[in-house]
Amino acid sequence: MLRARLISVDLPSSQRALEELGLPDALIFTADLTREGPVEALFTALDEAQVTLDIPVNNAGAARPETIFDMSLDSWNEISAANLTSAFLCSRSAMQRMQHRPGGRIIQLGSMVGHQGALKGHLHYGVSKSGIHGFTRTLARTAAPMGITVNAIAPGLVETDMLYATHGAEGVKALEARVPLGRLASVEDIAAAAVYRPRTPPPT
Ligand SMILES: NC(=O)c1ccc[n+]([C@@H]2O[C@H](COP(=O)([O-])OP(=O)(O)OC[C@H]3O[C@@H](n4cnc5c(N)ncnc54)[C@H](O)[C@@H]3O)[C@@H](O)[C@H]2O)c1
Repeated sequence: MLRARLISVDLPSSQRALEELGLPDALIFTADLTREGPVEALFTALDEAQVTLDIPVNNAGAARPETIFDMSLDSWNEISAANLTSAFLCSRSAMQRMQHRPGGRIIQLGSMVGHQGALKGHLHYGVSKSGIHGFTRTLARTAAPMGITVNAIAPGLVETDMLYATHGAEGVKALEARVPLGRLASVEDIAAAAVYRPRTPPPT
C-alpha cells in the first residue's frame, strides 16, 4: 500500500482544516499559486520543513461561466493563470528539487474539455486545459531522462464545488443525466488515478 504524507496548498480563503479528515501528519500551506514570489516562498518553506517531494499534484484551477462576448481581458488572464501559470510555477520549483532524485512523478489536472472543448463558452477554461495537456507532454520529455514521469489526469464531470459554481444544481443534474455511467466522478475516483503507480521502475 502506498503511504504518503499529504501537503496541501490553497488560497488563504479556501484552505480547509485537513485535521477534520483525520490526517494528523498533513502540512497545510496557503499561497496564491499564480504568483512567482509566493510560490518561491512556499517551496523555501517546504525546504525548511525538510519535505522531500515525491508526487506534486498541480490541482489548483478555476472556471467562470462566461462566453466570449462577456469575457473581459482581466477574466481571461485570471482564469488562464489559475489553470496554467500555477502549473508552470509549481512544476518549475518542483523540478528544481526533484531533478537529481529519479522516481518522482508530477501530475497535472487537465480536463476532458481540453480535448473536446468546453461547455457554455468557458473559452478561458477550455483553452487553459488544452494548454495543460500540451504542457504535460512537453515537460514529460524533459523530465523522463531524469527518471521523473509527468502525466495529466483529464476528468469528465467531477462532483465538486467548481461544478456547482459553474453550472448550478439544476445544470449539474442535467449534465449527470448525460453521463453513460449514470453518475458524476467523485474526488475519490480522481485521487485513485493520482496514486496510480507505474509498474516499471524509472531509469536511473
Ligand atoms: N470538477 C470537475 O468537473 C473537473 C473536471 C475536470 C477537471 N477539473 C480540474 O480539477 C482541479 C480541481 O478542481 P475542483 O473541481 O476540485 O474545483 P474547486 O474549485 O473545488 O477546487 C479548485 C481549487 O483550486 C484553488 N485555487 C484556485 N486558484 C488558486 C490560486 N491562484 N492559488 C492557489 N489555489 C488556487 C481553489 O481555491 C480551490 O480550492 C482543477 O484544476 C479543475 O480544473 C475539475
